[in-house]
Amino acid sequence: MDTVQTIEALRARLRGYRRADRSIGFVPTMGALHEGHLSLMRQAVGANDLTVASVFVNPTQFGPGEDFEAYPRRLQDDRAQMAEAGVDVLFAPDEGEMYPPGSELKLYLPELSSMLEGVARPTHFHGVTLVVAKLLNIVQPTRLYLGQKDYQQSVIVRRMMQELFFESELYVGPTVREADGLALSSRNTYLTAEQRRQAPLLYQCLRSVREHAQQFQRPEAAQQWVYEQFKQAPAFQLDYFELRNARDLSPVDALRPAQEPVALIAAYMGKTRLLDNMFLFDPPQATR
Ligand code: PAF
Repeated sequence: MDTVQTIEALRARLRGYRRADRSIGFVPTMGALHEGHLSLMRQAVGANDLTVASVFVNPTQFGPGEDFEAYPRRLQDDRAQMAEAGVDVLFAPDEGEMYPPGSELKLYLPELSSMLEGVARPTHFHGVTLVVAKLLNIVQPTRLYLGQKDYQQSVIVRRMMQELFFESELYVGPTVREADGLALSSRNTYLTAEQRRQAPLLYQCLRSVREHAQQFQRPEAAQQWVYEQFKQAPAFQLDYFELRNARDLSPVDALRPAQEPVALIAAYMGKTRLLDNMFLFDPPQATR
């Protein structure tokens, strides 16, 4: 596996593939890889002639007081795991490469970015949209791979790609979970042993709402039930539990397949923000 740190070197490495019209798969990450990232990489390796993965802890998607400094950085381990997964090229730029002095471009979707995660993290998706657009423009992949775990991110990136006419196809890979259901996340390492023991409550609530969607019928009933569960779990501070349309994240008014509902949940355990989501019925094609 090659490691390149500059845009120029990456473009030189990819030029031959583009000219020969060979497919390029791309998995952007912030490193601290886990099985969720690696499953996307294996998927990309199986479906493309060449697979590029990036590691860049993107400063513009962290708000003031968030964990930019503390975010785990383990490039040597990441590199070994990527090579093992079959990745061909690791792109690991520094901040100056992605945001040269004088950079001032802003790129965001005001509505999609201000709901759900955007309430607690008002500028988070601005940074995500900007960096993913930059990366797509640099790599120009045939296929881009993101995880379903960050569901709102995948909806926002899909919309950004449509509005900017990016040609790449977006593949959203299923959330990879621990045996007890906790969604894998690089931030799970922040949890204490006791918090880790209780953390699967998010998944358990999503599962129950999915299993009992017919009985709940209405989103408010499901919401009420989830709030009750979290009232009995003082280690958590529930931020939201919402039922939204899987394509555009608009509110749904009934838990029926035709409304394509996805349940989204976010809760704090101490300072650690945990996220999860689940389709209540089979996922709509355009969200996979
Ligand atoms: O999901 C992530 O790890 C990041 O938001 C991404 C897509 C790599 C952009 O920095």
